[in-house]
Amino acid sequence: MRQKVVLITGANGEIGHGLIRHLANTTGANIVALDVVPLDKSLRDLVSTYIVGDILDQMLLGRLVVEHEISTIYHLASILSTKAEYNPETAHRINVEGTLNLLRLAVEQSQWQGTSVKFIYPSSIAAYGIPSLNEKVQARPATEDQWCYPTTMYGCNKLYCEHLGRYYSTYYRQLSADCGTSETVDFRSIRFPGLISSETIPSGGTSDYGPEMIHAAAQGEEYSCFVRPATTIPFMVMPDAVKALVSLEAAPRNRLSQFVYNVTSFSLSAQEIFDIVLKAFPKAKIHFAVDECRQKIVDTWPEKLDDSAARKDWDWAPEYDCRRSFHEYLIPAIRSRYQTPK
Ligand code: SER
Repeated sequence: MRQKVVLITGANGEIGHGLIRHLANTTGANIVALDVVPLDKSLRDLVSTYIVGDILDQMLLGRLVVEHEISTIYHLASILSTKAEYNPETAHRINVEGTLNLLRLAVEQSQWQGTSVKFIYPSSIAAYGIPSLNEKVQARPATEDQWCYPTTMYGCNKLYCEHLGRYYSTYYRQLSADCGTSETVDFRSIRFPGLISSETIPSGGTSDYGPEMIHAAAQGEEYSCFVRPATTIPFMVMPDAVKALVSLEAAPRNRLSQFVYNVTSFSLSAQEIFDIVLKAFPKAKIHFAVDECRQKIVDTWPEKLDDSAARKDWDWAPEYDCRRSFHEYLIPAIRSRYQTPK
């Protein structure tokens, strides 16, 4: 008998760390972790198997389904917005072709199993592209279908993969003899704001100035914040991001009125993050040195997201507001991680 498993791609990344710990602590799920680098030692006991491999490797994915019956896929692997700009075509291959490979695997698995494989896909605030700073500042909290003109390869990839998920769920093989009535993938996506974790430091994102500022301050390292002090976007801490993913996964399908949902927690300017961080770590050596190119990217992302659809359809609500995020999660956990004296 093949083992029933939850597949997590990009398992060694920021969200992967939080998600694996959560699933291992709260469910009996057998986790298969896939990443291009070996899984962190601290996570290895929490998974059934970890595989070092590439989501572009069709043979590897083929072998996966020979050995495992996949019930849910958390497809976390991707190249983030800043990194993707250095090699947009490679980012496209990983972000889009990789997702396509996994969607096809999920549809095939759904047909074999006679039941839908759930496909949980983190999308991003980068799917938005507000044309000017003036409009950004004036804008009301963005709903899922507003301002969808991303200016980065990563944002384009995320937006397109949201559509691919909708296509594979609803229209895949729509002209086949069975008129597309066979089992198909159950695609569900969340558009995340900037994420901050106490455990990991992101790499290659454009919202990274938030987490980088606080991790650098706690280590007493100098940090140059690459956006202007007034720059504002929404953020969320990792426990809430994980909560959002598992809550959407658990929601009854008939309650879901859309494929893609915004979630948000608190919006802060870089200056406000700086003030909080400096208060917690008075010796922090942070200054602002604006990178105009990265600034331009953040200037297209909304200051606030409207997450009312998620609240209505699957009872979404963050557990960590700004005060709790910093004072009950980030500052204590990051302080103890680097063992900075109080
Ligand atoms: N944190 C991501 C990035 O900056 C946005 O999803 O690329």
